[in-house]
Amino acid sequence: MNELDLLVDQARAAFAATQAPAELEDAKARFLGKSGRVTELMKGMAQLSVDEKKTRGAAINAAKQAIEAALAERRQQLADAELAAQLQAEALDVTLPGRRRAGGGLHPIARAQERIEAIFASMGFDVADGPEIETDWYSFTALNNPPNHPARSMQDTFYVDMKDADGQWFNLRPHTSPMQVRYAQAHARRYAGQAHMPDIRVIAPGRTYRVDSDATHSPMFHQVEGLWIGENVSFKDLKVMYLDFIQAFFETSALKLRFRPSYFPFTEPSAEIDIMFEEGPLAGRWLEVSGSGQVHPQVVRNMGLDPERHIGFAFGSGIDRLAMLRYGVNDLRLFFEGDLRFLGQFQ
Ligand code: DAH
Repeated sequence: MNELDLLVDQARAAFAATQAPAELEDAKARFLGKSGRVTELMKGMAQLSVDEKKTRGAAINAAKQAIEAALAERRQQLADAELAAQLQAEALDVTLPGRRRAGGGLHPIARAQERIEAIFASMGFDVADGPEIETDWYSFTALNNPPNHPARSMQDTFYVDMKDADGQWFNLRPHTSPMQVRYAQAHARRYAGQAHMPDIRVIAPGRTYRVDSDATHSPMFHQVEGLWIGENVSFKDLKVMYLDFIQAFFETSALKLRFRPSYFPFTEPSAEIDIMFEEGPLAGRWLEVSGSGQVHPQVVRNMGLDPERHIGFAFGSGIDRLAMLRYGVNDLRLFFEGDLRFLGQFQ
């Protein structure tokens, strides 16, 4: 094999050995570049005669063309391979089943709360929101709790490691009742000095906290506070209003209500509200759903109102309890464990 055929073979082998365009360009330079093998051969023709130059030049040219052809061929192969790899990587299997995005939804407790808000709104009640980190005064003192009342104790109430302006620890409100006083105070300020003050009708739903945990108690739970203050309201109004609410909430009129005497420091007299379904799986049993009562004169005073003129009725119901009864759930903890298999059923 002559020297030029050998060179062409070497170039072909060198090109074939490359795996990427950059490597191929390096290999090309070794043969066709400025100081490449072919260029060197051309330079070596300087001393030859004219005739020799002709034949030698033609032979070198033929070799050069063969090398260029091999280069072009390898370039094409590499480009094809690159394209094939890219197509492979970006392949889209249109026969795969689609991935469905799960629909979101409201938590059953949020659903129950929204129902409660809508029902009371339809009865002319405002819906108020308030702080979950409360002062001692609003959570206890304003509600007529004596200084040593057990509800204040560390066993029942969560405290925050921070003191309020009275030098008392802030607490995580153990009930929504502080909102009675906050709302009524604002109302009283707004109508101070005016001849007529519209009735206060408000509910305050929201999160509440107590050191308690079992199948029917959670350290974080939900209450809805209700307050109706006017110059001409009575226990009868509380009873009619609560019955309307509870029948609307459970979507049945086959539901009775009874007041059972009880004690709360912030009401006098006080009563537990029990309900009884007349049909359905819960029929025939009295179920306790709420505390209630006539707002204690001292609490009315703390609201900035005159207990001789303004009389109030209040209630505090457990939203979680109402949701459990409505949805037939027997363990409160299920609501707060975040298991979507459970929560998804209420959508
Ligand atoms: N705050 C009471 C509790 O957490 C519930 C309650 C009872 C609220 C009687 C009231 C009421 O407004 O009048 O158990």
